[in-house]
Amino acid sequence: MPFLLQHTDEKTSARAGLLTLPHGDVETPIFMPVGTQGSVKTLHPAELEDLGAQIILGNTYHLWLRPGHELIKNFGGLHDFTTWRKPMLTDSGGFQVWSLAKMRKITEEGVRFQSHLDGSKMMLTPELSMEIQASLGSDIAMLFDECPPYPCEEKYASKSLDLTTRWAKRCKDWITENQPLTNALPQHHFGIVQGSIYADLREQSARELVELDFDGYAVGGVSVGEPEEEMFRAIDNAVPFLPKDKPRYAMGLGTPPQILEMISRGVDMFDCVMPTRIARHGVAFTLDGPIHIKNLVHANDQRPLCESSHPHVSRFSRSYIRHLFRAGEMLSLRLLSFHNLHFYLSLTRHAREAILAGTFSEFKESFIQRYNAKQT
Ligand code: GUN
Repeated sequence: MPFLLQHTDEKTSARAGLLTLPHGDVETPIFMPVGTQGSVKTLHPAELEDLGAQIILGNTYHLWLRPGHELIKNFGGLHDFTTWRKPMLTDSGGFQVWSLAKMRKITEEGVRFQSHLDGSKMMLTPELSMEIQASLGSDIAMLFDECPPYPCEEKYASKSLDLTTRWAKRCKDWITENQPLTNALPQHHFGIVQGSIYADLREQSARELVELDFDGYAVGGVSVGEPEEEMFRAIDNAVPFLPKDKPRYAMGLGTPPQILEMISRGVDMFDCVMPTRIARHGVAFTLDGPIHIKNLVHANDQRPLCESSHPHVSRFSRSYIRHLFRAGEMLSLRLLSFHNLHFYLSLTRHAREAILAGTFSEFKESFIQRYNAKQT
């Protein structure tokens, strides 16, 4: 896959790159807003464009169960169905089965489970996940993997990663046989490194996936309840075995300081439900850390949420947004979601600018210092 490495930082492993995808270019490092059901919650696609979002996520599990990949395929794919014209990445479904479905059982063949919607018995396999993602027509499809829980014994983590590698081979076979037939536009595929907290397993997983040769590589099985240092170690244990000339993606992360830590470790792509999810609970990110808008201290506060807010949000006072939130007005949820995504997208954009300018370390340190100062 065309990935141009534009600059590597001298003091850290941070990189700036350019990913060329069928629906457009993506400048890395990049944050990808999550649109599980084909919609980034509360936001219009035009607002995402205003925010400068370059790529968003969709989920195989949810879209397969409802409305169904055949229906979406008949609309010409997820882009035409949703009207989002820029790149999309789809997750492969196993992780979501694990967190949402009932009665899950993993076998060699795939994952058997009961739908969280109507209890019907379903089976998701590596081949079916690839077929669904091909029907959705995402620019990047993730391979079908097993994400072991935390904590996880080494023996289980090892067996689980062997299964993930065997599934990756089956995904590869399906792609080789079917890709030219199913897609008008090419689709790219990322392998997912597993191995829990075990350094040798992370290395083994990375080496086996690289051997199979995918377009990019993700580190999965992180942010599943482990302490933060374990999460950083998992990345450090995988990255040295991934090719420099392909994009790297840390799945499901993280707080703003964690994103900067990951960038400094050589990660290029991120997604996380946190900015939109906690917005719906009244939390806004600011350069001085998160604030809870319903707190009394904001009752008469005339300042905007954050000095770096987007103009659509900075026209409003904290006091007004607090009032809207307490009154249950939907506009508050939209404003907070919009604001938090702006915060995350600005964070990765500023990190990229700093990498290109050779000032990433200083940017990272001063951002984290200020972000944490009022919280301690
Ligand atoms: N999202 C967050 N973590 C994971 C993971 O380990 N695997 C997949 N497929 N998706 C994820």
